[in-house]
Amino acid sequence: METVKLTINDKTYEAEPGKTILEVASENDIWIPTLCYDKRLDPYGGCRMCLVEVKGARQLLPSCISRINDGMVVNTESENVRRTRKGVLEYILSDHPLDCMTCEATGCCELQDVAYSMDIKGERFRSEEKRGGELHDRNKLIYRETPKCIRCGRCVRICDEVTQEHAIEFGGRGFQMWVATPFGESLLDGPCVLCGQCVSACPTGALYEKQAMGRGRPYQVKKVRSTCGYCSVGCQIDIHVDHKGINKIT
Ligand code: SF4
Ligand code: SF4
Ligand code: SF4
Ligand code: FES
Repeated sequence: METVKLTINDKTYEAEPGKTILEVASENDIWIPTLCYDKRLDPYGGCRMCLVEVKGARQLLPSCISRINDGMVVNTESENVRRTRKGVLEYILSDHPLDCMTCEATGCCELQDVAYSMDIKGERFRSEEKRGGELHDRNKLIYRETPKCIRCGRCVRICDEVTQEHAIEFGGRGFQMWVATPFGESLLDGPCVLCGQCVSACPTGALYEKQAMGRGRPYQVKKVRSTCGYCSVGCQIDIHVDHKGINKIT
């Protein structure tokens, strides 16, 4: 099989042509922070969290959309990379509600994990401007909280590319951009089938399972592997169980 040779952080690796830098790095246990990347979705390159240095490139490149080349020399941890990623995260957090203490997503939040890994508290560019609030959608399954949205687009893309319902889209512009439903109505009034894929894709607490709210942190809940009996495919599912019974299914 044809392979490509490249260097990451002074070590040489061989990989299949066509892979991205991020894919090769993660296959070799080199951690690169990501927020808009989801391996179930087409490459997007929106958040700039995964920037890396590539020798000869005029600027840092997003590793989730940059394909490997033979002889490529990549640095994922240079001073420039670390400083730039920190700056990107500071901007993302500038209007983010810092309420991890009571947020349902604590313990399963990618944004929180990335901030922790970089020791960023989100205070540097703090803005008083707030976007939206909790959306009182009358559906019984999906909770939506706009201020916690980092506009990564994973929910919109999974609804388009995987569920293929096209039930949500970005509305507004710039700072006021938010994930919108048709005519701003409830998810129940559009093509949404309440499959929960958007919740599974969300890297923050902006989308959450309503029925699991207030029922414990992810590490306080037991997960039981099972097989979905809805159709003949038999997908593997995790049933989350707490002291009151089934908390959620992922
Ligand atoms: S979404 Fe994540 S970072 Fe934001 S408050 Fe919740 S746990 Fe904290
Ligand atoms: S629940 Fe499913 S159909 Fe509804 S918006 Fe989310 S991904 Fe789309
Ligand atoms: S709701 Fe979640 S998945 Fe959707 S754009 Fe916002 S942060 Fe990303
Ligand atoms: S994870 Fe690469 S740009 Fe968002």
